[in-house]
Formats: sequence, structure tokens, C-alpha cells
Amino acid sequence: MRYTAPPVGRAPRTLYGLSVKLDGKIALITGGGRGIGKAVALAYARASAKLAICARTAGEIEAAAKEIRALGAECLALPCDVAQEDQVKKLVDEVVKKFGRIDVLINNAGVMTRPTPVTEYDASKWDYTMAVNLRGPFLMAKAVLPVMFKNGGGSIVNVSSSIGRGAYANFAAYGASKWGLEGFTQILAAEVGGRKVRVNSVEPGYVATKLTGFHGSAPESVTEVFVFLGSDEGSHVSGHMLSSSSWRSELKK
Ligand SMILES: NC(=O)c1ccc[n+]([C@@H]2O[C@H](COP(=O)([O-])OP(=O)(O)OC[C@H]3O[C@@H](n4cnc5c(N)ncnc54)[C@H](OP(=O)(O)O)[C@@H]3O)[C@@H](O)[C@H]2O)c1
Repeated sequence: MRYTAPPVGRAPRTLYGLSVKLDGKIALITGGGRGIGKAVALAYARASAKLAICARTAGEIEAAAKEIRALGAECLALPCDVAQEDQVKKLVDEVVKKFGRIDVLINNAGVMTRPTPVTEYDASKWDYTMAVNLRGPFLMAKAVLPVMFKNGGGSIVNVSSSIGRGAYANFAAYGASKWGLEGFTQILAAEVGGRKVRVNSVEPGYVATKLTGFHGSAPESVTEVFVFLGSDEGSHVSGHMLSSSSWRSELKK
């Protein structure tokens, strides 16, 4: 099924017959400066959400925020390294100061190093991959959850990978970080479900971004499930491992 992005400036009321309402919802998206995170942020803006995006490269998040604001959505662009707890705390404080709450957290920031056999892989690259891909979502959840509890609930979406659901030789660090993220997702869903916070993971498929050398499908084509999971229509969904391409049939199982 091919997704056609709605015209700039128009909020879609339906997406494949699904009523999508993000009006007034506050979404914090990590790694929102480019690639999948930016495409999801733009999709959220089209659905009338208010955005906060972060990444380490200030120029990229500022440029992305400009595009988001051109759609009529409010957007905060805040530099932050998700692996640094002090920066994460400051980020969340600033988002709450501006918007008063956080309804959706999308843990999208991620890194992948060159595929390398374990015997030749630098321990420093292992640590770096784990810090961004696994410690980052933990730190973000730790900082955002009290805000969601106070506000009566929310939605956390962790961006995983098919490499976090299978055995891919030479991807030990990236794969283990994403397998870890899947486990974290399941545990968190069980832990915070009683507080009306839902937690799910999404594997986006093979997407044309800097991470893949711009091979794969368009980032805009994988955003639909993220909008669904942030919406009230997705409020019954928690603890699921979904794919951008087949999430509807996965939810029917
Ligand atoms: N593209 C694919 O085919 C694919 C497939 C499966 C899963 N994924 C996952 O999708 C997510 C997005 O990847 P992408 O393909 O869109 O890659 P990308 O274009 O390289 O974007 C990654 C984003 O994460 C940010 N980021 C990286 N390290 C960060 C840190 N320490 N703190 C804050 N932000 C950080 C980057 O900005 P800065 O570098 O400026 O910080 C950038 O905005 C990742 O989790 C990736 O593992 C991608």
C-alpha cells in the first residue's frame, strides 16, 4: 500500500479510513532533525499536534522546525544528546515549561556503525551504540514518565529495527541494542500500563536516510503507524511490536 503525504498545510482527518486526531497533543520526538524522526514530526504537524524535537546537530533541528512551523504547528527545537542524563532532564524541563505536558514520546534517535564481525569490533563503538540506542530511550522514559503520570497518561513509541528481531551477522552492537530496546518496551509496558501510559515499538523497514546511505523507501511512507500510536484511536494498544508496513494486520492477530 502506498502512502501519499497530504498537501502541505492541511491536516488529514482520515488516513485509510481511520479518523486521526492529534489536535492539541504534545509530542516529543528524539532525532527529529532528519530522516524518520523528521518525517514523523511533519506527519504529527499535519495532524495538528504540537512538537518538540531534539538531536545533537542544532542546524538540522532548527531547519526541521522551520518546515514544521510552515505547516502551522508550534515546534520547539532543542539540542540534546539523549545519552546524557543532565541534557535529557533539561530537555524535558524545557518542553514542560513551554507546553505544560507531554502526551507522546517517540524514542527515535539512533546510530548504527559499519557492519563488523565481533572479533574486530571496537568496544568503544559497542558502548556508543548502547548509549544512544538503549540508554537514551531509558533516560528519556525516566524523565518523561513522571510528567505523563501527572497528566493522567501518554504514549511512548520506541523505534526498533528488524535487526532487533532477528539474527543478523556483523550487526552485534546495533542488533543487541535494538533487541534490548524491544525488551525494555515490553517491561515498561507491563510496568506503567496501570498508570495509563502505553508503550510500543515500531520497526520502520528499510528507509532512505543518512543511516542507510539513503537507500530504501521514503521516510514519509513509514509515518502512519506513529500517528496512530499517538492518537486516541491507539489508546488500547500497548506492549506491541509493530512494523510500519504491516501494523494493521499485526494488531488484528
Ligand atoms: N533507516 C532505516 O532503514 C532504519 C531501519 C530500522 C530502524 N531505524 C531506526 O530509525 C531511527 C532513526 O534513524 P534514521 O534512519 O532516520 O537515521 P538518521 O537519518 O541518521 O537520523 C538519526 C537521528 O537521530 C539523531 N541522533 C543520533 N544520535 C543522537 C543522540 N546521541 N542524541 C540525540 N539525537 C541523536 C540524529 O541527529 P544528530 O546526529 O544530530 O544527533 C538524527 O536526527 C533509529 O533509531 C534507527 O535505528 C532506521
